[in-house]
Amino acid sequence: LTYPCDKLTNVTPSILSKTTCRLYLQPYHPISILRNHIESHFDKFHYFNSFSPVVTTVQNFDELGFPADHPGRSTSDSYYINNSIMLRTHTSAHQRQAFQTGTEKFLISADVYRRDEIDTCHYPVFHQMEGAQIFSINKAVEEITYDMQKTASQQNHFINTYDKTAISSTNPVQPCHPVEAVNATISHLKYSLNELVRKLFIDEQNLQVRWVDAYFPFTSPSWEMEIFYQEKWLEVCGCGVINQDILNNAGQPDKIGWAFGLGLERIAMVLFNIPDIRLFWSKDPRFINQFTSNEIIKFKPFSKYPSCIKDLSFWMNNDKEHEFHITNFCEIVRDIAEDLVEDVKLIDDFKHPKTKKRSLCFRINYRSMD
Ligand code: DAH
Repeated sequence: LTYPCDKLTNVTPSILSKTTCRLYLQPYHPISILRNHIESHFDKFHYFNSFSPVVTTVQNFDELGFPADHPGRSTSDSYYINNSIMLRTHTSAHQRQAFQTGTEKFLISADVYRRDEIDTCHYPVFHQMEGAQIFSINKAVEEITYDMQKTASQQNHFINTYDKTAISSTNPVQPCHPVEAVNATISHLKYSLNELVRKLFIDEQNLQVRWVDAYFPFTSPSWEMEIFYQEKWLEVCGCGVINQDILNNAGQPDKIGWAFGLGLERIAMVLFNIPDIRLFWSKDPRFINQFTSNEIIKFKPFSKYPSCIKDLSFWMNNDKEHEFHITNFCEIVRDIAEDLVEDVKLIDDFKHPKTKKRSLCFRINYRSMD
């Protein structure tokens, strides 16, 4: 397919070349192994694995209730093919399509695209898995009780879970939802995700998990789930009770349900011990050949070069129309230096006392993975 370009077009050939890779479907790729594990946990769900990464801005934003001025819509955050067509920034873009098929529980795995800064855990393409399950509003309590009894945990692996979240006016229940139905939906959501984490991290001793309140335009109440890894809390998942408008518009007005979006790289980096997100794109046999079955195994590093630092500074243009965004700069760095760059940090921000001109200095760390 060809699309006309316009003022918003900001996709580059190198980004477009990633849209055909589909790492999440490549046999024995860590992202695909992880997808398989999660799919086997959500048994009897419908798995959507071939939605196109090219979506309309309506699918990616409007249908999900993003306001017109939401920062996610800006060309410094998202990849536009033109004013109305873009690369999806999240798997939630397909929620409506999925619900419209009539399914009551599904997973959607896909590559998603965001303009971002460069470091060891950010890459302009990554993978997400969207999950959702809906119940009859009138029979939610019975349906959920039955489901939870049926799937009651057989596991005795222990994890520390902290949950100090609370329903409040800043993270409210939707007025259209009966209290019992929404409470049952919330416990089912938290139970399903806690069980998933417990299963995935069966070999991690003393794993710590916490729930924090969050905000998303398409859920209320909303939360994030974080895991403690290498001395910091990593956000691995956003979730919540689906905004009723979404279900109404998808032809499911008598249902209530939950949804989540998992970041697959974050989880795979922890599980497989993969230290740098660029490795997922490596074609080096020393990487690929370490994964030859559907098992989760620890990656063995095969190469570590010292960093090679180059500092780059430049004067900024003062006019509003050419406002500087670090993501634009990072895009140029990735285009020119490709995956040789491990991270980019702003190390100085200078304003000339007399001329008032501003200059920035970036430290670019080149380190080959191979
Ligand atoms: N789409 C969100 C993101 O990419 C993640 C997310 C949050 C997905 C809440 C959901 C959800 O389905 O209910 O940041």
